[in-house]
Amino acid sequence: MGWNGEESEELYGVRHWGADLFRISDEGNLIVMPAGPGNGDVDLAHLSEQLEEQGIALPVLVRMPQIAERRLQLMSGVFNDAISEYGYEGVYRPVYPIKVNQQRQLVEEILRAGASNPVGLEAGSKAELLLAIAMLDAPGSLVICNGYKDRRYLEMAIMARRLGRDTIIVVEKLSEVQDIIECSQKLGIRPSIGVRAKLSKPGRGKWQLSSGDRAKFGLSVAGIVSLVEQLRDADMLDCLRLLHFHIGSQVTAIQTFKRAFREASRIYVELSRLGAPLGLLDVGGGLGVDYDGSRTRYDSSRNYTEREYAHDLVYAVSDACTQAGIPHPDLVTESGRATVAHCSVLLFDILGVESRHDESVPVSDAPESDHHELYRDLCEVFEGVDARNCQEAWHDAQDLRLRSSQLFDAGDLRLDELAEIERVFWQVSSKLQRVVSTLRYVPPEFATLDDLLADTYYANFSVFQSAPDSWAIDQVFPCLPIQRLHERPDRRAVIADLTCDSDGKLSKFIDRRTVKNTLEVHTLRRGEKYRMALALVGAYQEILGDMHNLFGTTNAVHVSTDSKRRVVFDRVIDGETVQAVAGYVQYDRGTLIDLVRQSVERAINQEDMTRSEGRELLARYRDGLDGYTYLHR
Ligand SMILES: Cc1ncc(COP(=O)(O)O)c(C=O)c1O
Repeated sequence: MGWNGEESEELYGVRHWGADLFRISDEGNLIVMPAGPGNGDVDLAHLSEQLEEQGIALPVLVRMPQIAERRLQLMSGVFNDAISEYGYEGVYRPVYPIKVNQQRQLVEEILRAGASNPVGLEAGSKAELLLAIAMLDAPGSLVICNGYKDRRYLEMAIMARRLGRDTIIVVEKLSEVQDIIECSQKLGIRPSIGVRAKLSKPGRGKWQLSSGDRAKFGLSVAGIVSLVEQLRDADMLDCLRLLHFHIGSQVTAIQTFKRAFREASRIYVELSRLGAPLGLLDVGGGLGVDYDGSRTRYDSSRNYTEREYAHDLVYAVSDACTQAGIPHPDLVTESGRATVAHCSVLLFDILGVESRHDESVPVSDAPESDHHELYRDLCEVFEGVDARNCQEAWHDAQDLRLRSSQLFDAGDLRLDELAEIERVFWQVSSKLQRVVSTLRYVPPEFATLDDLLADTYYANFSVFQSAPDSWAIDQVFPCLPIQRLHERPDRRAVIADLTCDSDGKLSKFIDRRTVKNTLEVHTLRRGEKYRMALALVGAYQEILGDMHNLFGTTNAVHVSTDSKRRVVFDRVIDGETVQAVAGYVQYDRGTLIDLVRQSVERAINQEDMTRSEGRELLARYRDGLDGYTYLHR
């Protein structure tokens, strides 16, 4: 039976999560169109080969900042449509929260992309503020200053106004107000102030604990009123320019946004009535990414489009302000995930497979009488498997396996006997899997058979470094082979990473109706590389990634397509070397080499090694320190 790229696109959901950016080529490779369809394709299989020819080994993170530009254009487009549809008087002002991916070239591209509709930056810490001030030089650029702040943070934010940056200090806690007043008096510069409201209705889902009474940030209604009084007393109420809220990331249901937009619009109106000039309503981040392509309110999806989001916001604010007879504010969004998630894809290769389908030794139809009785019984079960008795065969096989393990524990079964029994057990399971796949009604005990028989594909990357959210909060990312996609995948597997940690694996994969525990893959071919992609990892993963087992950052390459639709490598950034990651935990190259040199001297003196072996070992040790942390093939 044939198979084609379209079937793979359906199987791996490429058309659903890949927007108009990912497709499968006629050659059966995964391609990306960073500048949109018709503007050049990046064939990820060819790209990996080219990189390897140039000595840039996998794993490689492929960053495509052009995608961020397209995402920003999409957002401006839907907001401008909604603004003209509702006759809205304010404008749309996008702000990129730098925490989501601080990578400099990506931020530069995002700021460049905002030429028609300038993009501001959101900072959540002092360090991020310092980056934002340097990176933004267009006059009047918005810098939204969130997070907890000390005096140094506040003074820098206020002084940056003299550089033409429109810094807005968002009050997260009432205790910050007096500090802001004092800093501005000391510097003789009037600040622009915002206030973060703690909305009353908590969001739903894993990322949505940023609203409701227990939210960590923001002021309650009483706090907002007190802020107004304190600013009025200091004759600074005219500095209050922005109302902010953020209900959490990856908001999956539009209803959550609708409620928040209504509540925030009402707070905006009332704040305005209290005499604050305002003019800006900042709705924070939270715009979801459809990681699984299901368009539902599952954790890895969202049940709305950017268009619906923009229309609901413009409508809610316009309605509340028009009724109250106050001017419509400019609308600020801080969408991070939705801007950059699609920009990065991790490419990694498969190093080997552990399979339970070992059919190299056929099951004997007439086992010798000197074989163990349990072994002989299992061979008989194997012979007898068919569609009518599959349940009974499965029960018998499981029982025989259990008994063999009990006998082994009691010392009544040898290791080689147990190994033979295990081998036949897996062959019975495989045979049953084939039989069960032909049944119209599959009895419930076989529901987990596919998972049980899944192979383990060992992969050259670290989940902790490259997809930490998949480990920390069970987030699923699209994962698929990047070649042979015109061939039917004939195996199912989980993907185990390089770390010595049983959590270091991918064992949840996107599916349109649910998540699946195993992924369809192809049988490896001897001498041929099998490479895979983990897509949509551009948001949060790079900066949250950790150094478990001292696997550092991977090689990275920035790729774009030019006006002639050619693929261009804009930049190659080497991954960390062993000595770089060792440095983070206070090991220095010289000391390490010295310690090993001393051991080599001792071994030579004790005649445990020759001088030339010693030289060779030291040369390799140095080489290792200078080398990539991931596996070489
Ligand atoms: C204040 C604030 N704004 C914006 C964001 C970005 O959110 P998202 O990536 O969901 O758009 C965050 C992240 O949680 C945030 O805390």
